[in-house]
Amino acid sequence: MSEQLVLSEKRGKVGLLTLNRPKALNALNNEIMQALSDALLAFEQDEGIHVIVLTGSGDKAFAAGADIKAMQSWSYMDVYKSDYIGGFWETMKTSIRKPVIAAVNGFALGGGCELAMMCDMIIASESAKFGQPEIKLGTIPGLGGTQRLTRAIGKAKAMDLVLTGRFMDAAEAESSGLVARVLPVENFVDEVVKIAEGMAAFSSPVLMMAKQCVNAALETTLEQGLQYERRVFHATFALEDQKEGMAAFVEKRAPNFKNM
Ligand code: HXC
Repeated sequence: MSEQLVLSEKRGKVGLLTLNRPKALNALNNEIMQALSDALLAFEQDEGIHVIVLTGSGDKAFAAGADIKAMQSWSYMDVYKSDYIGGFWETMKTSIRKPVIAAVNGFALGGGCELAMMCDMIIASESAKFGQPEIKLGTIPGLGGTQRLTRAIGKAKAMDLVLTGRFMDAAEAESSGLVARVLPVENFVDEVVKIAEGMAAFSSPVLMMAKQCVNAALETTLEQGLQYERRVFHATFALEDQKEGMAAFVEKRAPNFKNM
């Protein structure tokens, strides 16, 4: 049997997905992206899972980019038709409503950095390295590297990374606003799962609503975003979990969310 390209593991209410091509530094090809899409959709449909964590196997890489060996001879039509370039983001955007945390444990380069940026939050280990080195290969980022990176870290740094191909370490990525937190290498994934478990203890529909509102900030004007947030805030008052959360606070006890 061939090795699984994406390992899928349930840890309580957290779904842990691991890109699993360690010998190729988890380089991304059509097959691994299809496997990742399928695994994400399976967790999305699993009501027991509230938060998803995505990481890379081995201790060197989250993903060192699109698979250069697979791509090198592609024609214009091959790249045009390739499913994962357009298709994967469509899946993430329209079908994955649960929060996805990228646990970046090493190189996140090219498509690997872009994949991390498609997630809702990036947590990096101290050994993480981010970059968009496509310029060195005679091409440019194709999965959002010029767009999401610029929104995340601003034009000056994005231009620097995209035009020089240099890598950014975890400390610089944190101070630039690309990553939410940096954690030690030791027990890195377990520590990210702990953070995810903390989130997963909250109401699943409210987590999804909150994620959707933050993401809307990148797609709308401020006025539209504020209106959208207000409507979703109103909607939380239709949930039993809002009643439970506030009752628990008033009664000085832990809430028991029912995810409804
Ligand atoms: C295919 C890759 C790969 C990649 C590493 N490998 N990155 N294979 N595609 N993107 C393979 C190597 O060929 C090698 O296998 C093994 O992984 C280990 O890599 P080494 O280079 O020996 O390791 P090291 O010297 O430690 O260097 C690590 C590295 C380097 C700095 C990460 O591998 C590197 O620069 N990789 C390419 C990074 C990159 O350019 N990414 C952007 C890709 S373009 P073998 O069998 O040869 O020993 C892209 C465009 C996306 O992502 C656009 C949308 C689709």
